[in-house]
Amino acid sequence: MSATSFDAAYWSARYADGRDQWDTGTVTEPLRAYFAQLGPGDARRILIPGAGRAYEAEYLHSAGFEEVYVADIAPEALGALQQRVPTFPAAHLLLQDFFELEGPYDLIVEQTFFCALSPELRPRYAQQCAKLLRPGGKLMGLLFDGQVGPGNEPPFGGTREEYRRYFEPYFEFVHFDTAYNSIKPRADRELFICLQKKADTPA
Ligand SMILES: C[S@@+](CC[C@H](N)C(=O)[O-])C[C@H]1O[C@@H](n2cnc3c(N)ncnc32)[C@H](O)[C@@H]1O
Repeated sequence: MSATSFDAAYWSARYADGRDQWDTGTVTEPLRAYFAQLGPGDARRILIPGAGRAYEAEYLHSAGFEEVYVADIAPEALGALQQRVPTFPAAHLLLQDFFELEGPYDLIVEQTFFCALSPELRPRYAQQCAKLLRPGGKLMGLLFDGQVGPGNEPPFGGTREEYRRYFEPYFEFVHFDTAYNSIKPRADRELFICLQKKADTPA
């Protein structure tokens, strides 16, 4: 059973019905640009939670990153990656609830997963990211800046002030500002974040 009130059945139904408006069909530019500047030793173990069809994993895999893991509760999502990229290691496809994953990872990649969770789970998301990362590890990616959805189902937006409250106990803010290279439909509506786990983070 998922820890979210939007469970595996909910997400599977959205894939089956084509209600997958988040799906960009390719790696988005803010993530691609970040990945492109990573050195080989910068991020060995990478986790993409709530990965969906996981174009970021495909990009990293083809760029030679060998320890990329994708997690999702919807089998359709992981199946799509497996079909597109048969060389992606099957053992790195985690059909698991994010809140039950174990680390450690060097890097966690966020894109439209945080906004897919019920907002009351946000403090636990921040805590779980910190738990999954090694000290000094990073959580990077994109968060919606402001309201986005109808409010009764994902995506759920939020504010910078709210996000800061969740992440400050565990992370140093390396970058936390409007993304300059968002895809067009999300321009000026998303924050690019790069948060580094504090050495003395609470458990
Ligand atoms: C809005 S989609 C985003 C997918 C992907 N990140 C993207 O940008 O295309 C949210 C994804 O999170 C997955 N998901 C929702 N709750 C989850 C949980 N508790 N653990 C793991 N995956 C979850 C859903 O199945 C869905 O694939």
